Amino acid sequence: MNFSVTDNDFFKETSLLTKEDKKGIITHKSPSNIALIKYWGKHGIQLPNNPSLSFTLTNAFTETKLDFQTKKESESKAVISLEFWFEGQKNEKFEQKIRKFLESLLPTQPFLGFVHLQIYSQNSFPHSAGIASSASSMAALALCLCDLEKNLLNTLQNEEEFYQKASFLARLGSGSAARSVYSNIPITTWGKTEDIKDSSDLWANPYILPIHDIFQNYQDTILIVSAEEKSVSSRAGHALMENNPFSQTRYQLAHSNLQKLILALEKGDTETFIEVVENEAFVLHALMMCSSPPFILMETGTLSIIKKIQKYRQETTIPICFTLDAGANVHVLYPKKYENECINFIDNDLKPFCFEGKYLLDKVGS
Ligand code: DP6
Repeated sequence: MNFSVTDNDFFKETSLLTKEDKKGIITHKSPSNIALIKYWGKHGIQLPNNPSLSFTLTNAFTETKLDFQTKKESESKAVISLEFWFEGQKNEKFEQKIRKFLESLLPTQPFLGFVHLQIYSQNSFPHSAGIASSASSMAALALCLCDLEKNLLNTLQNEEEFYQKASFLARLGSGSAARSVYSNIPITTWGKTEDIKDSSDLWANPYILPIHDIFQNYQDTILIVSAEEKSVSSRAGHALMENNPFSQTRYQLAHSNLQKLILALEKGDTETFIEVVENEAFVLHALMMCSSPPFILMETGTLSIIKKIQKYRQETTIPICFTLDAGANVHVLYPKKYENECINFIDNDLKPFCFEGKYLLDKVGS
């Protein structure tokens, strides 16, 4: 399945696209997500080597506006016509990246060659916070592209198909972005697994298994330990899994951790939730440390924070835990009902390890 529209009847009658001057504005807002079961390692065209599961966030999002106008009959339909603005400024670097992405889609989505595109994108979180924005930005862009197709070709009228295609396209831009197209769904999964009906490597799906109340409104406080760009890109990190001696064991572990997590989410079992979520974070970083070449993605502040969280949990029995993405920042996860205690703890004990005392309050989207 590549969601190709080359056989689309509207499209075959290119007159519809060339004679009729169409223009419009499409906007989409997509949330960031934090993986509890990590996607790390891929094959083929952006296909994951194991299933992943993430919380959808609320406050960290990207908003993208796409301004389109159909090209004149005389203009080439084999090239992408694009201008890109990020946070109000023309951004050549991002424009290049998006152009490359759109060019890669052109053979299966030829309507992209029939329009002039102006894209304006902005994040709700500061660019200097060291938070990866590829998930939310690629998801917002993919949703805009699906609306563009709907507008030009009269396709994707079915909502499920619309979101599946958006997730499919977002995945081609950045794997974790596949999980960011469903803004009002608390949990999303991506990747084929026996444990989730209709799961797919090609697109992410909303998580439809039972979720206990305690996990419905989980809080995620993102501690900014480092605002610097990561020492290794995700792309390079995934590639290092190919020769990692522990990769097969890792992929099996992801499946068994997912099974445990599914049960914990249903039962409201915070103990197993913590065991699985922290294990996933440690394993991700351990894999990087034993890659060739090795990478240490934690900073000393990251380790200090982790130790403080574990000690606080032991002393108070509050089910607070952490997860990490492929960098030094720490996502602190806790149930809403312990919000006050946890924020106090973060302010007093963890904030000193944050870069310029910065952290972002977020929560699972609903
Ligand atoms: C550690 O989605 O950023 O955050 O597909 O190469 O763009 P690309 O990688 P990316 O990898 C995310 C890795 C992770 C885990 C996760 O989000 O599942």
